[in-house]
Amino acid sequence: MTQIQTPALASLVGGRRADGGRRQASVDPAHTDEVVAEVLLAEPATFVAACRAASEAQPGWAATPAPVRGRAIKQLGRLVEDNREALARLVTREIGKPLAESRGEVQEVIDTCDFFLGEGRRLYGQTVPSEMPDKQLFTFRQPVGVAAVVTAGNFPVAVPSWYLVPALLCGNAVVWKPAESAPATAEALAQLCWHAGLPDGVLNLVQADGETTFAGLEAALDAGVLDKVGFTGSTAVGRRIGELCGRHLQSPCLELGGKNPLVVMPDADLDLAVEGALFSGFGTAGQRCTSLGTVIAHEAVHGEFLDRFAAAVEGARIGDPFRDVLYGPMIDRRFLDRFLGWLDLVRPHHRLRGSSGTGRITAANPRTGFVGDPDDGLYCHPTIVDGVTADDELYGTETFGPIVGVAACASLDEAVALANGPGYGLSAAIYTRDPATAFRFRQGVGAGMVSVNNSTSGAEAHLPFGGNGRSGNGSRQSGMWVLDQFTRWQALNWDYAGRLQKAQMDVADVEGDGAFRL
Ligand code: UN1
Repeated sequence: MTQIQTPALASLVGGRRADGGRRQASVDPAHTDEVVAEVLLAEPATFVAACRAASEAQPGWAATPAPVRGRAIKQLGRLVEDNREALARLVTREIGKPLAESRGEVQEVIDTCDFFLGEGRRLYGQTVPSEMPDKQLFTFRQPVGVAAVVTAGNFPVAVPSWYLVPALLCGNAVVWKPAESAPATAEALAQLCWHAGLPDGVLNLVQADGETTFAGLEAALDAGVLDKVGFTGSTAVGRRIGELCGRHLQSPCLELGGKNPLVVMPDADLDLAVEGALFSGFGTAGQRCTSLGTVIAHEAVHGEFLDRFAAAVEGARIGDPFRDVLYGPMIDRRFLDRFLGWLDLVRPHHRLRGSSGTGRITAANPRTGFVGDPDDGLYCHPTIVDGVTADDELYGTETFGPIVGVAACASLDEAVALANGPGYGLSAAIYTRDPATAFRFRQGVGAGMVSVNNSTSGAEAHLPFGGNGRSGNGSRQSGMWVLDQFTRWQALNWDYAGRLQKAQMDVADVEGDGAFRL
């Protein structure tokens, strides 16, 4: 009997499917014996071909009036809205995010489309007064050209939309390289984009692994068919991409890791702080770049906060992501293995709380109250590590998974120093009732995003998103701020004096009497 292989997903370049490539299965992390899809992983040449196809399509797309491009974004938003449940379920199946969070993630795509469809009717430039008569000055936003967008598996639709939607709206063509852990979700989002009315070549999908992508980026930059790179992922890979782009005088949009602090001051509403820490630290199984890394609790409330936090984590429902749980499985086996490695950072002076075990949840290492059968999937115990100090490796290391450190501080100044110490600067939160404390914290902390009495994660889709230090190179996504990533300012001066007017030299002056005194 001949074995019939299920058709595999493949890259789509210039409107045509690329054939060949290494076949890889995308597995449901909650049921590791179930394959969600198979995908053919492309070679670097396919990536370069995608950039070429994009550079051929881009001038036509840039010539399409921005309000018309906005119509495509509008269609995309409506298509996502009409397919929201199917898309959310696919996200949950493929990466194990609880369904409520997957629905929120899909909503973020819709919100992003809603914001940018209107931008198609703005994309404002300025009129600027000239220092000479009969001369007018203007600014225009020009698309950058071809943008390559490389995204991670933890937000397989929301974060890609933060790049794709504004890049396309601004008149760029895009090559999207989604995460290997979410190829079926990527295919679904790309299908929605294509059905929204994008011409062939304006959005190209390349399914590839990381090293292939890096080789493809290098070759495309060398060939001059790539003008901008957007990357969401680890600080280590972000550095390599930053170096590569720098050699080509390009500044990539980098959204990297975080070791996000949450400060609890003596005047905090402790139950609110516990709720925030629970969602920040353990939502999405701690696999957000904005996940809580270290709680910094003032010594006056440290003990009480810790007891309430530990009780909340111990009682949290963990398990089947299609049921009402705080978190489900790890995204895939690679994330699981990395996380288990980070547990080695726990030292003898630390005290562990939060679960009936540590590491992987199995029948032999059970979690009290687990929802479903832990042996079916890639589940991990939540771990609170109390007694963290600035000398611990755990304090300075991003640990992508369900682990939260707790440190103590004696003052706001110490809290700020501990918050900044790891050198990341993505998101930071403080729980306090005092406005002066909140503003002092905001001013002192190096994070790109600060929450007062709210979680370190859960950004709204139209506020600038991004970080500093090890979290990024200062680029910002979302809202009007991302326009500076996907457009370049062009200045125009138009002289109708009929003679050459030289700036600074042919400028009229006003006579004043500088010697005048009252
Ligand atoms: C990320 O993990 O890369 O604000 C992005 C948040 C999410 C996005 C996180 N909406 O936490």
